[in-house]
Amino acid sequence: MKAIAYQKFGNTDVLQTVEEPKPLIRSNEVLIKVKAVSINPMDWKIRKGEMKLMSGSTFPRHTGVDFAGIIEDAGTLVKNFKKGDEVFGVVKNNMKDGALAEYVAVPATYIWKKPAALSFAQAASIPIVGAAAVTALEKMGNINTNSQVLVNGATGGFGMFLLQLLKQKGANVTAVANTKALDSAEKWGADSVVDYTKQNILAQQKTYDIVIDLSGKMGYTNAKQIMKPKSLFLNPTPRPIEIPTSLFKNLFTGKKHIVILSQASSKNVDTLLNAVSNGLQIEVNKVFPFTQSVEAYRYAEGGGIIGKVAIEIKS
Ligand SMILES: NC(=O)c1ccc[n+]([C@@H]2O[C@H](COP(=O)([O-])OP(=O)(O)OC[C@H]3O[C@@H](n4cnc5c(N)ncnc54)[C@H](OP(=O)(O)O)[C@@H]3O)[C@@H](O)[C@H]2O)c1
Repeated sequence: MKAIAYQKFGNTDVLQTVEEPKPLIRSNEVLIKVKAVSINPMDWKIRKGEMKLMSGSTFPRHTGVDFAGIIEDAGTLVKNFKKGDEVFGVVKNNMKDGALAEYVAVPATYIWKKPAALSFAQAASIPIVGAAAVTALEKMGNINTNSQVLVNGATGGFGMFLLQLLKQKGANVTAVANTKALDSAEKWGADSVVDYTKQNILAQQKTYDIVIDLSGKMGYTNAKQIMKPKSLFLNPTPRPIEIPTSLFKNLFTGKKHIVILSQASSKNVDTLLNAVSNGLQIEVNKVFPFTQSVEAYRYAEGGGIIGKVAIEIKS
């Protein structure tokens, strides 16, 4: 089968199409003919060697964490899925495994049935950023119509899910995005929008109960300027040192720095599927064919993407 792999850390030019044997499955696993894979920033952070502490440095490496496809074979212990089922899921080890290939093998606990109303590219867009948005919502605690929430970097994949989940909860949301993305932020539920190319959100007077930074560029020290005395800063892109230090510092401060480290689980995927059935939209900005996987990554890494980017495998 064909797969995308790389032999050293680097930019998109290290990505290569390789020929590999189809994976073999264990008794608790399923073999999936992959139809679509969505792109996440973690793919290129790992590929560039920015996450070596967690990913390790062995090669060859594969890429692509969340996928959708059709079950080709199921191990003897797999009871809830069968050949021909349309599913979506995540690879078992998102730091080492890759789904961008014609086939992927994963334990049956890492997949879910694809709703018929979603395309393969839409379903492949759910697990990583959708689960992170659900985790963020849980960390926010009891939010209601009085909650003032600021979402910085609001119109990528994570923001698309989070804005719509916040809308379903009724929070009052300010979204920070670039000029071309402001309409999407409003469509997904933002009550007010700020164009980061024209206005510095840190320079305004308004303060918030919750600030979440999805751009990875704000940081807790800056965010404190626009936080109420008792409020939360949610950080899904922590520096490794911030994971323990934020816990310790939170004991002594009214403003709390909360690190988000999420994983796709049946609980948060169920929440997302419920939200989808209540109208949550999954926007795939552009779909590339497998033969243009390198171009797909270049496009996604260039920024300015509203929603998700996906790669489809037609074979
Ligand atoms: N910890 C976890 O469990 C977890 C899980 C999922 C994702 N993440 C992380 O969360 C982050 C967001 O994920 P994502 O998939 O949504 O990424 P994404 O699609 O790349 O979105 C990032 C957003 O930030 C915006 N942005 C860039 N510069 C900005 C600035 N100066 N001010 C305000 N916004 C700016 C981008 O806007 P433009 O369109 O203008 O470029 C884009 O909309 C990533 O770093 C990802 O790795 C963490």
